[in-house]
Amino acid sequence: MKEQVGQRFARLATDAVVRRPALWPVFRPLVRRQFDRLAPVWAEMRSPDASASFLAALDRVDMPVQRALDVGTGTGLGALEIAKRFPDAEIVGVDVSAAMLEKARKLAPGIEFVEGDASALPFGDGEFDLLTHLNMIPFLDETARVLRPGGWTVYAFSAGPQTPIYVAPDRMRRELERRGFTDFAEITAGRGNAVLARRGEGV
Ligand SMILES: C[S@@+](CC[C@H](N)C(=O)[O-])C[C@H]1O[C@@H](n2cnc3c(N)ncnc32)[C@H](O)[C@@H]1O
Repeated sequence: MKEQVGQRFARLATDAVVRRPALWPVFRPLVRRQFDRLAPVWAEMRSPDASASFLAALDRVDMPVQRALDVGTGTGLGALEIAKRFPDAEIVGVDVSAAMLEKARKLAPGIEFVEGDASALPFGDGEFDLLTHLNMIPFLDETARVLRPGGWTVYAFSAGPQTPIYVAPDRMRRELERRGFTDFAEITAGRGNAVLARRGEGV
């Protein structure tokens, strides 16, 4: 019951923040508390195919990656998958939940984890070649800002429309297009789906 309420809240927060990013400060303390509470059990809760669509999207990133950021990294699952696909890349994971990051640092000791908010990322413009999101509320203006022109972004949802934090592909595409993204691909793998897009060169 408590879990279902938490999942409904996650979906509500996602819908509201994609529609009106200015609402995020209302949800922020509640979301952070929710994930601080889930941190001790999060890694064990993940199903074995949780990264399938994320991995399928990474496979289609056809450029060298020097610096990548996994946004809403939680216990670092996505960051670890990037490290496997791009072993020479410098990888950073960012999250608002200190408890999640504490776990991530133990599970992925070679990766840098930074406490920070995706609505105001603590990074400079165009710093990253790749920005990934696995089951994460999209903050699209910040994605466009910290990604270099021509860089790729991935939004993956482990259980497709059943994922508590979920945005449908056509909505993702509209939001990304408004910010000058191109080269969309919609990917399905396992129970999940992902959207892959590239930041326009002239944007
Ligand atoms: C559903 S969990 C996904 C964690 C991980 N990506 C995975 O799939 O295992 C969502 C994560 O995003 C984080 N998060 C939510 N909103 C955030 C924000 N605005 N900035 C940074 N992290 C955020 C939460 O703390 C949580 O760790």
